Amino acid sequence: MIKPDDIERIVDACKIEEVVGDFVRLTKRGANYIGLCPFHNEKTPSFIVSPVKGIYKCFGCGKAGDAVNFVIEHEHYTYPEALRYLAKKYGIVLVETQPTAEQKKEYDEKEQLYKLHDYAKDFFINQLLHTDEGKNVGLAYFRQRSFTDSTISKFQLGYSPQGKDAFTQSALLKGYSVKELEKSGLTIVKDNHYYLDRFRERVIFPIHNFSGRVIAFGGRVMTAGKTDYAAKYVNSPETDIYHKSNVLYGIYLSKNAIKRNDKCYLVEGYTDVISFHQTGIENVVASSGTSLTVEQIRLIKKLTNNITIIYDGDNAGIKAALRGISLALKQDVNVRVVLLPPEDDPDSFARHHTMEECETYIKEHECDFITFKAKILLADAKTDPIKRAEVINTIAGDVALVNDVIARSEYVHQCSDLFSIPEESFAEAVRKKYYQIVLEQRAKQEENIATIDNTETAAVLSDTAKQHPQSLIPQNRAMVAEKALMKILINHGERILTFITEQEEVQYTRLDQYIYDNMAEDAIKLSVPEYAKLYELYAEYAEKYDTNVVKNMCNGVSEDMRATIMNLLEVNMDKKSEGSANGAEARYVDDDTDILSDNVTRVLQLLRLTRLLSRRKYFNDQLQQASESETDVLLMLIQELTQKIAEIETSLGTTYRNNGEYIC
Ligand code: CTP
Ligand code: MN
Repeated sequence: MIKPDDIERIVDACKIEEVVGDFVRLTKRGANYIGLCPFHNEKTPSFIVSPVKGIYKCFGCGKAGDAVNFVIEHEHYTYPEALRYLAKKYGIVLVETQPTAEQKKEYDEKEQLYKLHDYAKDFFINQLLHTDEGKNVGLAYFRQRSFTDSTISKFQLGYSPQGKDAFTQSALLKGYSVKELEKSGLTIVKDNHYYLDRFRERVIFPIHNFSGRVIAFGGRVMTAGKTDYAAKYVNSPETDIYHKSNVLYGIYLSKNAIKRNDKCYLVEGYTDVISFHQTGIENVVASSGTSLTVEQIRLIKKLTNNITIIYDGDNAGIKAALRGISLALKQDVNVRVVLLPPEDDPDSFARHHTMEECETYIKEHECDFITFKAKILLADAKTDPIKRAEVINTIAGDVALVNDVIARSEYVHQCSDLFSIPEESFAEAVRKKYYQIVLEQRAKQEENIATIDNTETAAVLSDTAKQHPQSLIPQNRAMVAEKALMKILINHGERILTFITEQEEVQYTRLDQYIYDNMAEDAIKLSVPEYAKLYELYAEYAEKYDTNVVKNMCNGVSEDMRATIMNLLEVNMDKKSEGSANGAEARYVDDDTDILSDNVTRVLQLLRLTRLLSRRKYFNDQLQQASESETDVLLMLIQELTQKIAEIETSLGTTYRNNGEYIC
């Protein structure tokens, strides 16, 4: 039980911006901080932290509370777990009172497992440092691997002695039950009475969770010869507190450095992490011999979007690992890869080089993940045409996952070079994969669409209609912009847009793909139902057909939809010609791509504007019911939106003020 006095001390010590800041990237805005809400999907921040009031609040999803509440919500901790976590963070020593029999019963099994792991960790450390066997065998082993005393204590390394049940007996004496020991995996029970320590005669690497509690162990045999018949590493099994796929070794000790450097190195094993730390590079975690999982990427994403994976030069597992990493692209993470010299793994490399040498090597050998993967797979396929086609397809799938338009066309450029195929053919392969992904995600997105977005728009539209029945201006504006967008998509979707990157290079993208990118980027949804439906249908057909998307649609869709399409088609009666992509002559001729791209930009801006206006309206409504303490925060959000709105209005210029009809 945590005493009320201690609870008070913990609550007093908490700085809300620090507690939240461990999990959410916050930016200072006046007296407050702002960030992307960790409790719902959003692209524009509506999550506010107020240090003065000691609270967080999301104006999007409504979650709000103090520091303790945040930890409970975010980490799914119980109240006592959250308090202990915060006490630890702020170095507050808790004097926990002896639980009564009844309270003891209330302790949940998880808490007991944590305790057992903590006890085991201490037992193994004690064995390593204070017994002859531990010193002669375990400590000697670590010394021979050049681990310093401070490294050994930092990582809480230990030793589990030879005796077959030395640990188990000690834990039983301490009052832990056989059932608990077996559940933790620390003890293997045979024939109901024969106990065996899982980690006997191994050096011990405790595995910590994000907040620093020991949740599992890895144990390594010490002699080379032993590896012939014993597995080199033995690890804890999955338990109530240890889910291997959710854990990264080293995350607790590395998280501050990862945040500070805005970069995370990913290595394979325990000793790789440890040697990196010892050489002074602390932003590193290990996936512990498995390929990266989505949960692990999410864990890293709390801290940074930049992952650099460091592989052994001769690692046979690279190809298997590559598969997992495509996941990271989907999660909007920048993945880079470094290959070490063939004789090294990260551990030996870090031991043989200074921090500066390591950093220089990494900087010089860092390669983006897609190019890296393409090179490896290509080397494997050699000249076999079927295998090469497979490789191209695989890589096209990866490129399609990249959300940033410019980065994506840069990849198209690089990869087509690498494969020695025309840029258009590779772009085509990417485009098909892209629509596959769009369609796959559509179902999911529907679920995820934060209800706020719908209610927001719906509320704005119906309110305006109610209050000003004579002037449906926002509604009009949305409809005009949506119609213009659909017109461009239907009539010119397959045209190629050119644009200039910051590096002054010319890049190409298909207009339809450009539209889908921008709409997704700003989470814009179409409010006119027939356009929304058509927008989905287009994606389906664009995935199936390289060209003549609209023509194929006309043949496949319902009568109503076809009528909608027909309404949108621009037909130039004077210059009717056969062979045009849409069965109708486009109004734009080839050399007016500039006008076209200018129009696309304007339409997208207009849609963006509509979304921001409805968002501002939503916040203004909240303002009516806001408590005094929330008012200043809401005003700040509104002010930010107003500024963005003004920027867009300026860029749209006077034409927009003439009712938006200019676009059509
Ligand atoms: N691993 C494991 N079980 C094994 C082998 C490996 O769990 N039987 C995991 C461990 O997390 C290990 C990682 O995979 O750290 C990488 O394996 P490996 O490269 O073989 O080990 P190293 O970390 O290089 O360990 P050492 O340097 O001690 O050989
Ligand atoms: Mn190694």
